[in-house]
Amino acid sequence: MPADFLIHQLGANGDGMYSSDRGPVYIDRALPGDVVQANIQSGAGGVLRGELTKVVTASPDRIDAPCPNYDACGGCTLQHANDQFYKNWKVDIVRSALDKKGLQPESWHKPIFSFPGTRRRATFAAFKKKNTVTLGYFRRRSHQVTDIATCMVVEPGIMALRAGLVQSLAPILQDGKAADIFLQSVHGQVDMVITGPVGKAGKPDLQVYEGVAELAHKLNINRISWRTNERDAPEVLLEINPVRAKFGPLDVALPPLAFLQPTKTGEDAIVAAILARLPETGKFADLFSGCGTFSGPMLARGTVDAYDSVEPAIRALEKSKGAKPLKAICRDLFRNPLSSDEADRYDAIVFDPPRVGAHEQAKALATSKTPLLIGASCNPATFVRDARILVDGGFAFESIQVIDQFTWSHHVELVAVFSRRS
Ligand SMILES: C[S@@+](CC[C@H](N)C(=O)[O-])C[C@H]1O[C@@H](n2cnc3c(N)ncnc32)[C@H](O)[C@@H]1O
Repeated sequence: MPADFLIHQLGANGDGMYSSDRGPVYIDRALPGDVVQANIQSGAGGVLRGELTKVVTASPDRIDAPCPNYDACGGCTLQHANDQFYKNWKVDIVRSALDKKGLQPESWHKPIFSFPGTRRRATFAAFKKKNTVTLGYFRRRSHQVTDIATCMVVEPGIMALRAGLVQSLAPILQDGKAADIFLQSVHGQVDMVITGPVGKAGKPDLQVYEGVAELAHKLNINRISWRTNERDAPEVLLEINPVRAKFGPLDVALPPLAFLQPTKTGEDAIVAAILARLPETGKFADLFSGCGTFSGPMLARGTVDAYDSVEPAIRALEKSKGAKPLKAICRDLFRNPLSSDEADRYDAIVFDPPRVGAHEQAKALATSKTPLLIGASCNPATFVRDARILVDGGFAFESIQVIDQFTWSHHVELVAVFSRRS
């Protein structure tokens, strides 16, 4: 008779947790309150993992997952919980990260949740065999690509493109090899980047160029680029029209693979949170600026110095059209963070680092006299590490807002405000 396990909480990645004599067991797709049966195995690092085989008693928060691919697809982790449970969980991820560092913001703003079907970028896994392309996502806990014709998370327009790509990619990709297909949709314009071997020799040849031209015209794709692997810069194979984005008064021609906030709802919410606290006038810095998502709207209040280490993003900002009390500076803020003296020149500093956070930069900001810091983060774990440094340096932790742009996953975004104690 298989054993029953009572799930008491969710782990960091959204797995249900059961306390066994041998330590915690993480059971895929189980919820607190569920009693389940599972095949338990020791995984990487000796962590005990369970594959759910039966829900014996369902948690009151359990629902039927709305996506028809939920069982096969490795994309979403928490579609089997009701909306209120899901939303509370997202806020609790941030709350428990703060608790671990003894951080207490003075206020919590109302969380904002992006709707399903609003994610504006997707990376599909592609595999060509005997001239047939499989295009979708990896299976759960596997490296096998599975065709995914419907995805409830990304914009419907992106999924419509995927259907067209299945046919059109065959003359471009290499047989028996895997590639990634990145699609980003910006105000109806589409940027596409292929990562992996193409053509007969693994790089673009005449057939690839012809295939790319046909595909771009047939599917109305603005630009198609290619790179061998993730470490390479993409090479533009064809650009019919530039992909342009508007950030406040700025009109920016985006480079391939440009970072954009994953949803427009998320972008608007972060910008609103920044503007709600930014002084009416002043001299501002936007650290980890990307192509100017925040710098643009901040220009309405004063001058902005935008810093990022990715040269194409900074070049795009320099060449952007629109109001220009803006300076775009290419600088690696990990190796060469803004010093506290440099930071002192600004009336407010916005920072939005990648997932690894801004450890060195936070140390320098902590000793600066800058009156206001506004941080955005997509990783609560690194955010709390950096926030602790700022609070220990004498900043008051004014507020936090959870902004969910990663529907049904364990990822969550936040915006936080810190002010220098007088
Ligand atoms: C989360 S994105 C934010 C971009 C921008 N704030 C936006 O909302 O579009 C993080 C940014 O950090 C930049 N970045 C990564 N490592 C960096 C480094 N060492 N120094 C400076 N910028 C870096 C990336 O190029 C990217 O634009």
